[in-house]
Amino acid sequence: MSALHIATEELTTASAMAKPLNRMISSRDVIALEDRYGTHNYHPLPVVLKRGQGSRVWDVEGKEYLDFLSAYSAVNQGHSHPKIVGALTEQASSLSLCSRAFHHDLLGQYARHMTQLMGYDRLLPMNTGVEAAESAVKLARRWAYDVKGVAENQAVMVFAEGNFWGRSIGAISSSTDPTARRGFGPFVPGYEVIPYNNLQALDISLSQPNVAGFMLEPIQGEAGVVMPDPGYLTRVRALCTRHGVLMIADEIQTGMGRTGRMLACDHENVRPDLIVLGKALGGGVYPVSAVLGDDEVMLTLKPGEHGSTFGGNPVACRVALEAVAVLQDEGLIENAALRGEQLRSGLHELKSEFPILMNVRGKGLLNAIVVGSEQGGKTQNLAWNLCIRMMKQGVLAKPTQGHIIRLAPPLCITSAEVDKALTCMRKALVALH
Ligand SMILES: Cc1ncc(COP(=O)(O)O)c(C=O)c1O
Repeated sequence: MSALHIATEELTTASAMAKPLNRMISSRDVIALEDRYGTHNYHPLPVVLKRGQGSRVWDVEGKEYLDFLSAYSAVNQGHSHPKIVGALTEQASSLSLCSRAFHHDLLGQYARHMTQLMGYDRLLPMNTGVEAAESAVKLARRWAYDVKGVAENQAVMVFAEGNFWGRSIGAISSSTDPTARRGFGPFVPGYEVIPYNNLQALDISLSQPNVAGFMLEPIQGEAGVVMPDPGYLTRVRALCTRHGVLMIADEIQTGMGRTGRMLACDHENVRPDLIVLGKALGGGVYPVSAVLGDDEVMLTLKPGEHGSTFGGNPVACRVALEAVAVLQDEGLIENAALRGEQLRSGLHELKSEFPILMNVRGKGLLNAIVVGSEQGGKTQNLAWNLCIRMMKQGVLAKPTQGHIIRLAPPLCITSAEVDKALTCMRKALVALH
């Protein structure tokens, strides 16, 4: 029976329809169901996952895979970490949500812990990455008017080409990806986009008197793990300071240990004015995001001027505290650095053997391979086909920007698992030839 038939024949009452089916349905049926009833805003790999543990996931047929995407770095602590799941379920059965209309017993503790850990005065809690990044833009604009003295509605926000901070109108207004923008205008005014990793362009842009902030990813994740030159972040910091502009680091993908340090900015000992966290702050089980900054910026917001029904809820606070504790207690940040070295050295070996691997790059466990045809051209299908072959061998990854495959397993991955993934990738590359 096909999935579409199951939907109409088995699920006859409203309450039955609200429950997941007990009996197993095949990957093919699940995909058909999603295709029929879901909106086609993603193009997933044809794999249907049902269970995850650590670095591994299993599909509905029981086949095991190594997860080399980690839900875009939201699962740094590994799938279904027992301590994080424990915190989630315990808190959910005690007090899950009360909104910010009332206080609850965890927000203050969570904010204190995070600010002390990261070295900032205050935390603003949100849920998803895009909300936190947009909150940072709002904070920068408000700071520009209240503190820097920019005339009302004249504040400029500067972004780097290739940036990705989500899909809201605010986020796509700074995007340089035509797919993200086409058909969604008009866009937010007061944005300026300059080339990434270009200090001269930044200097010129920031010297305008009405610039509020420069928001950037220390390594551009969605753009294809694009790494700036060493020293770039240090010089960005210096330019922002010189021009009286807020440096805002979007560490939603690079933060929480992903690159082998708690924050990617830590590699250059750079302290941005605002940092934006998300993804793995929720330990792979819950959407949790935050902006961290100092009084001068954070206290410009007054009651009623910004907020979120779910932001800073008890479950979010409890989960985030546990998510951070797991990263630290289990040495996952150090493991990210070590396993990252191991992975890249294995990938370089593969590159010397397979000419379609044009480049290998990354830091910690945020890595990418650039795939090109034997004639030297970039081809979208090649990266997709390699991911399909890798999937068949038991490694899940997905192309970003068509010709780049991001390799970002959970930070708990073991040395043996990295070796296994490299062996699977070799087989996939052989199969592609
Ligand atoms: C650097 C960066 N910022 C922001 C976001 C948006 O996060 P979310 O999808 O949780 O809104 C992403 C998502 O991939 C991201 O990589």
